[in-house]
This record gives sequence, structure tokens and C-alpha cells, in this order.
Amino acid sequence: MRSGPIISASGVTKTYRSRDVVVEALKNVSFEVTPGEMVAVMGPSGSGKTTLLNCMSGLDAIDSGDVSIAGQLLRTMSDDALSDYRASSMGFVFQAYNLLPVLSAQENVELPLVLAGHSQKVARARAAEKLDLVGLGDRTDHLPAELSGGQQQRVAIARALANDPAIVWADEPTGNLDSTNASEVMDLLVRLNKEHRQTFVLVTHSGAVGAVTDRIVRMSDGEIIDNGTARSGGAADSASGGASASPGAHGDSPGNPDESEN
Ligand SMILES: Nc1ncnc2c1ncn2[C@@H]1O[C@H](COP(=O)(O)OP(=O)(O)OP(=O)(O)O)[C@@H](O)[C@H]1O
Ligand SMILES: [Mg+2]
Repeated sequence: MRSGPIISASGVTKTYRSRDVVVEALKNVSFEVTPGEMVAVMGPSGSGKTTLLNCMSGLDAIDSGDVSIAGQLLRTMSDDALSDYRASSMGFVFQAYNLLPVLSAQENVELPLVLAGHSQKVARARAAEKLDLVGLGDRTDHLPAELSGGQQQRVAIARALANDPAIVWADEPTGNLDSTNASEVMDLLVRLNKEHRQTFVLVTHSGAVGAVTDRIVRMSDGEIIDNGTARSGGAADSASGGASASPGAHGDSPGNPDESEN
């Protein structure tokens, strides 16, 4: 079955006005993502990457243009419908993990499930399954402070995956990690993308991270200056998984991990 883009944005404009400062954070941005694709968004600090994620996922309102997710125009949805949709179909991973410090790994992952209306029993089983998936089956009772940075980020990924979202948005998911933990987290995200056919849009400053994705979208000063070229054989093109994630296929050398854009 041939399907359209899972994320589609056209002519999106977003302007922040605070006191006397006006910032055009997104200028006439058009953007599409194919189901199952793993896209990296790169660009200098302040170029609009986080704004793009927030506007595409409906976390933040746009001033003009259109955003559709799975064929549904976000502006036609009520706030409640949009929140429900986000809770059931989208997962979010942030640079700072954002785990609740007084809850165990298990409880952090259970939380979105309970909030989505699942019984405690279902939440418990599903959270344990997701923690297993990210390799933390033996750390379920640990508090965040009792975990390494990479482990905390893996808990955050398990939490983002709790509801089996169609789309996972990640804003610099390896930004706080050393290179070893960063590559473990990226290997995990790539594996999840390949095995579970979920769509990933991730913001990164790291050329090494960009190099393992299917496509790199580049932003500068509120505009998409390059929508990138989908790598043939990427997840989006593969009917039954097994797509390789050979790095460097679209020109970025994995040997050059940082683009030092900050
Ligand atoms: N809430 C806000 N109010 C006013 N201006 C904002 C707000 N959020 C972002 N901006 C401005 O919008 C522009 C884009 O910000 P954004 O956070 O999207 O950049 P970014 O590419 O994610 O940067 P970084 O790599 O540093 O995270 C910046 O110039 C920023 O100062
Ligand atoms: Mg940002």
C-alpha cells in the first residue's frame, strides 16, 4: 500500500513577540516526512530547530501555513483532541531527560500509560516491557539519580515509547551524554526505528548522529535551507525492515562527530 507523508507542513510561519523583540523563528517552512523515516534536523543554535519540532507536533501554535499529521490538519483539531492525539500517537525525548526524580525508572515509564487511562496492571506490564526493550530490565527500581546519564536517557526513551507512538520527536537526545553513552543511545534509536517502523524526527548538533539517519534537514535563520535526500534502502523504502543504517551514505562523515555549531 502506498501511503502519503506522515508529517506534512507547508508555508509554516512562527513569530515570537516578546516585549519589543520580534523573532521570525520559522519563515515559510515546508517539510515532509515519510512513515518509518528517521530524519535529523541540523543547524546553528537559534536557527529554529526546537521551534520546528514544537510546531510540527502541535505543542506550539503556528501563525500561518498548515501542518498535517497522518493526513489530519492540526488546525482542525480541538486542543483536547490534539492533546489526546499527542498522548496516544507521539513520543517525546528531550536533551535533559525530564524524568521525575522521586519516581523509579518503572514508575516514570508507567506515568504516561496511567495518564492515558490504562489500568495499573497494564501500565506495569507495558513499562517493564519497554524498559527491557531499552536494556534496563535490571534497573526498573532505580531512581533517576541512581542511573547514569545514558541510562536516564534510555528511561526517557522507554517512556516516550510507552504508548507505541507512530512518531517519536527527539530534541538533542544525546546532547548531555558523553560519546560512549551517546552512541549507545543512538544505536538504540536506530534499532527502534528499523525494528518497529516508527517515524523519528530528531534534532542534533552531532554529525555522527546525523550520519546514521535516513536524511538530514538543514535549517538556518528560521528557514529550511536543505530538505536533504532520502537515502535509498532507508527505513522508508524498505517494506519489511532489514534496512541497513550504514553511516556516511549521504555525505556526512561519521569521523567528524561535531559540527561545532554552538
Ligand atoms: N518563547 C520564545 N520567545 C521568544 N523567542 C523565542 C522563544 N523561543 C525561541 N525563540 C527564538 O526563536 C529562535 C529559534 O529558537 P529555537 O529554540 O527554535 O532554536 P534552536 O535551533 O532549537 O536552537 P538551539 O540549537 O540553541 O536549541 C531563536 O532566535 C530564539 O531566540
Ligand atoms: Mg533547540
